[in-house]
Amino acid sequence: MSRVFSGIQPTGEPHIGNLFGAMFNYVKLGEQYGKNALYCIVDLHAPTNPLAYDKAALTQRTYEMALANLAVGLDPEKVIFFVQSQVREHSELSWLFTVQTPLGELERMTQYKDKADKLESIPSGLLMYPVLMAADILLYKADTVPVGEDQVQHIELTREIARRFNHTFGETFPEPKAVLTKEALRVPGVDGHGKMSKSKGPSSTIGVLEDFGSIWQKLRVAPTDPARVRRTDPGNPDICLIFDYHKLFSDLPTIEMVNVECRRAGIGCIDCKKALLPGIERILSPIQDRAAELAKDPDRVRAALHSGAEQARAIAAPVMEEVRSKMGF
Ligand code: ADP
Ligand code: NA
Repeated sequence: MSRVFSGIQPTGEPHIGNLFGAMFNYVKLGEQYGKNALYCIVDLHAPTNPLAYDKAALTQRTYEMALANLAVGLDPEKVIFFVQSQVREHSELSWLFTVQTPLGELERMTQYKDKADKLESIPSGLLMYPVLMAADILLYKADTVPVGEDQVQHIELTREIARRFNHTFGETFPEPKAVLTKEALRVPGVDGHGKMSKSKGPSSTIGVLEDFGSIWQKLRVAPTDPARVRRTDPGNPDICLIFDYHKLFSDLPTIEMVNVECRRAGIGCIDCKKALLPGIERILSPIQDRAAELAKDPDRVRAALHSGAEQARAIAAPVMEEVRSKMGF
């Protein structure tokens, strides 16, 4: 039997990188896998990065992340949707994997190196992050993990952790595979500083639930082809993040128009950015409308998450029993 697991951190507003890289895929795979699809708001991961963790905001961000996923079409009746900290087994399995994982394997992780570079004092939890992630996935013996490209190295490590455990204690875990969305491997941040990420703050992100005025303010000042200084200079869409967004949001004629007209300076960057707005509104409007509807009854959202946690625990508890017993506890 095949099972899906994926997690999303409540460290900021859900953005279009999360949407195209992960959230749309959750819905699609959920239709196929039903209760064998588990989606988790991984709040225990949030404090690993002091720059992204805000104790006072955590509960609200968890709720907003839930709301956004439900608004995108995740159905908590059909799949299992829950909050990580409500299922204690995640922490327990994480520890049992930590004691078996060589330090060197963790120090090699590029996401760790990137995040650690920006910190004066590095919490060991930042290094252990991928171990907790392995525990999240393997606690449900999941073999299929829909994620963005940034998580592929962590999935490799999860396979290694599963392999090592199986070798030492007997066949227990599957070796999970990442499922990528080809068209959204790595959505760039609107500030031009690499991958769009919640942990970089709102200057990097275009929020799934962000109002269109605010989205426009970010697009208006977003960097484009740096070689295109004057309106009459031809541009190169292949290195422009606005063109990346067109490929996600716009219809084919618009994408083609931008591709041609940018290269021959037929349109300017502002024209090109304006041409993006109808596509953004077409895709985000229905999601935002649905979120506004759901927000009228926050208790229902919370109740759905509690029920999801019970369903998750029903799968996790016997796996944890098995692991404890195999390890001699
Ligand atoms: P963030 O980096 O914004 O904090 P998470 O770590 O919570 O996002 O990741 C949630 C999911 O969204 C993961 O599957 C991740 O691979 C995906 N994802 C995050 N950022 C991007 C992006 N810029 N492009 C594509 N997928 C992304
Ligand atoms: Na991330």
